[in-house]
Amino acid sequence: MKSDILSVTTKNEKETMVVAEKLAKTVGKGVVFTLIGDLGAGKTHFVKGFVKGLGSDELVTSPTFTLLNVYDKGRVPVYHFDMYRLENAEEGEALGFNEYFDLNSLDGVVFVEWPDKVEGMINCPHIEVKLEKITDGRKITISSVGGEK
Ligand SMILES: Nc1ncnc2c1ncn2[C@@H]1O[C@H](COP(=O)(O)OP(=O)(O)OP(=O)(O)O)[C@@H](O)[C@H]1O
Ligand SMILES: [Mg+2]
Repeated sequence: MKSDILSVTTKNEKETMVVAEKLAKTVGKGVVFTLIGDLGAGKTHFVKGFVKGLGSDELVTSPTFTLLNVYDKGRVPVYHFDMYRLENAEEGEALGFNEYFDLNSLDGVVFVEWPDKVEGMINCPHIEVKLEKITDGRKITISSVGGEK
């Protein structure tokens, strides 16, 4: 089950970061976010804002080649994945990524760019953040996916 929570538009990357920064103030351990959007939609900037909102001054970079970057200087640890270079869920499982999608043991907040590349791996209830390019900015739609009705 998926249901929309809210939709906002941002004019530039700073405004997108502010949305994520505010969200970070209210979020604790054990939450998984998927980030949906084309190349350059602003997925990594959303994580940048979130990490800042947790009180960390760590430099957030794209995990395109590392697959996973960890930011642990803020109020809760952030696990930032980019699945773009993976072929399927089996590859992710072979790398031990499943453990991050078990909400009972998750000790931080997870962000996943390109979750569709590992379809079937993210079975836990999560929050989907969709970023769409529009004239003069981005439309950001936040929805809850899965979980009890
Ligand atoms: N409203 C906006 N929100 C976020 N980014 C924006 C916005 N307007 C323009 N941009 C620009 O779009 C780009 C977003 O880059 P970013 O690396 O965050 O995208 P991404 O979705 O992570 O891409 P990739 O799929 O390549 O990892 C940046 O160059 C940023 O300046
Ligand atoms: Mg990115």
